[in-house]
Amino acid sequence: MKLFLKIWRQENAQAKGQMVDYTIDGIDPNMSFLEMLDVLNEQLVAENKEPIEFDHDCREGICGTCSLQINGQPHGPDRLTTTCQLHMRKFKDGDTIYIEPFRAKAFPVVKDLVIDRSSFERIQQAGGYVSVNTSGNTIDANTIPVDKESADTAFDSAACIGCGACVAACKNASAALFVGAKISQFANLPQGQVEATQRAINMVNQMDAEGFGSCTNTGACEIECPKGIKLTNIATMNREYIKATTKG
Ligand code: SF4
Ligand code: FES
Repeated sequence: MKLFLKIWRQENAQAKGQMVDYTIDGIDPNMSFLEMLDVLNEQLVAENKEPIEFDHDCREGICGTCSLQINGQPHGPDRLTTTCQLHMRKFKDGDTIYIEPFRAKAFPVVKDLVIDRSSFERIQQAGGYVSVNTSGNTIDANTIPVDKESADTAFDSAACIGCGACVAACKNASAALFVGAKISQFANLPQGQVEATQRAINMVNQMDAEGFGSCTNTGACEIECPKGIKLTNIATMNREYIKATTKG
């Protein structure tokens, strides 16, 4: 396949970026999108040019670090697929492909296609966990019975990989789907009840402090989420937050 690429290049966080044109040939349709970028980078290195920076780690849809806006869509044209699991057979020979970083005030560009998603980490640190009391008399969490429906709902929420596609898809750059998933994961389990009040307040407050926009129920986040996180997670977050802030 021969492809015409328009890729965002930006020297550093302060620099003014721009789209740069590249042509690449001989791409196998069975290559992944990131392998195609690897080939382009090898070509650039061979030409003594600076390779394009992009984030990746597991390359199997688990870690959430790959994060490209491809032809205007987070993670590209496939549903329920991360950029690393997207294959070139989804494109046609001779296609022009626009490749940009996820755009959001709370995700500043570090370099080229790499963004800083530490805002998500700070939200997690604000309450996305269950504390372990190691007094010696602690009951093993696994001995607490969890009904199947709650376990399944919690597991579905826990599938969120923190990629940020929901933010990139949202016209308000809202992180409600991500935060909703992280709060719902614990709201549906008995182990999550002890710290539920502080968790909801602290995580929502941190989300606002990081500069994410408000949710206006557009639903683009659910469409673009590679892990199928449902809008019901946002409803759970709102319920948990209202419960926490109206406690007498
Ligand atoms: S909710 Fe979906 S799109 Fe948003 S961070 Fe989690 S996995 Fe990514
Ligand atoms: S590189 Fe890990 S999810 Fe894509």
